[in-house]
Amino acid sequence: MQNSEVKIIHNKEVAPGYFLLGLSWTPKRVRPGQFVMLRVSDGLDPLLRRPFGIYRVMPGQRGVELLYQVVGKGTRILAAKRPGESLGVLGPLGNGFPKPGKGKKIIMAAGGMGIVPLYPLINELKDGLLLFGARGKAGTKVIKDFKKLKCRIRIATEDGSAGQAGLVTDLLREEVTPDAVVYACGPPGMLKAVSVIAEQADAPCWVSLERSMACGIGVCLGCAVKTRTHEEEAENRLYKMVCSDGPVFSSGDMDWDAI
Ligand SMILES: Cc1cc2nc3c(=O)[nH]c(=O)nc-3n(C[C@H](O)[C@H](O)[C@H](O)COP(=O)(O)OP(=O)(O)OC[C@H]3O[C@@H](n4cnc5c(N)ncnc54)[C@H](O)[C@@H]3O)c2cc1C
Ligand code: FES
Repeated sequence: MQNSEVKIIHNKEVAPGYFLLGLSWTPKRVRPGQFVMLRVSDGLDPLLRRPFGIYRVMPGQRGVELLYQVVGKGTRILAAKRPGESLGVLGPLGNGFPKPGKGKKIIMAAGGMGIVPLYPLINELKDGLLLFGARGKAGTKVIKDFKKLKCRIRIATEDGSAGQAGLVTDLLREEVTPDAVVYACGPPGMLKAVSVIAEQADAPCWVSLERSMACGIGVCLGCAVKTRTHEEEAENRLYKMVCSDGPVFSSGDMDWDAI
């Protein structure tokens, strides 16, 4: 893990409100599903770094790219940054996704910006079926780059303006089989539903969780999630840190009623 001051190579709006940020930062090794904590301001506001998944390593190892959506103050400040400016980067952080095992049907389910950690996973595995859910057609623009990867893609939109009308979990119900392994990232409600569907199909399922984070390295305990891994143990042992124990967890280990 490095704590570096790095230059911005580009910060392009790739769809309204969605930005691709290129950083001249080349960590030795990045596993799919790992993330960074970005310091977006030199001042005290916002004080805390913001977590972002590592989207891809740029050709020729020139740096890495992050894909982010503007949702609040920190991402608004980030969107105004220009090439040549510097940012504080802490990472790579977290555990990343485990490998699927031989002969498995690989299914990835993403909702909204949950798509980000799945890009490096598909890129590494060169295989898989991507199920992507968005509210409407505008939200599907973020998967344009996935069409160049070796994966089949199915889309569901809530308003039916692109792909199948409905939820990404409807697609998962149609596709999941006991020989599948499911990787998922998205809002908590979606992940809970994915977890139930995978469990009913007897398929292993890995979920990448998002939590507000302050330190990103397991110190502040701000990103604790409740698990059901060690039910016989003391209550405080039931909690895991999304930043340092995760962000990827086996869905069967999570206490979904507490997430
Ligand atoms: C491990 C991890 C990886 C992430 N990867 C990405 C990524 O690749 N691309 C990306 O666009 N975003 C990603 N996020 C979410 C991103 O960190 C937040 O969107 C960002 O911190 C918001 O900062 P802000 O100051 O703009 O918004 P704030 O002003 O802090 O919040 C604005 C609104 O966004 C909501 N919000 C803040 N953080 C989150 C969150 N983590 N999940 C859901 N809602 C949130 C708040 O509740 C509030 O409603 C990731 C989060 C985690 C924990
Ligand atoms: S963000 Fe501090 S412990 Fe996870």
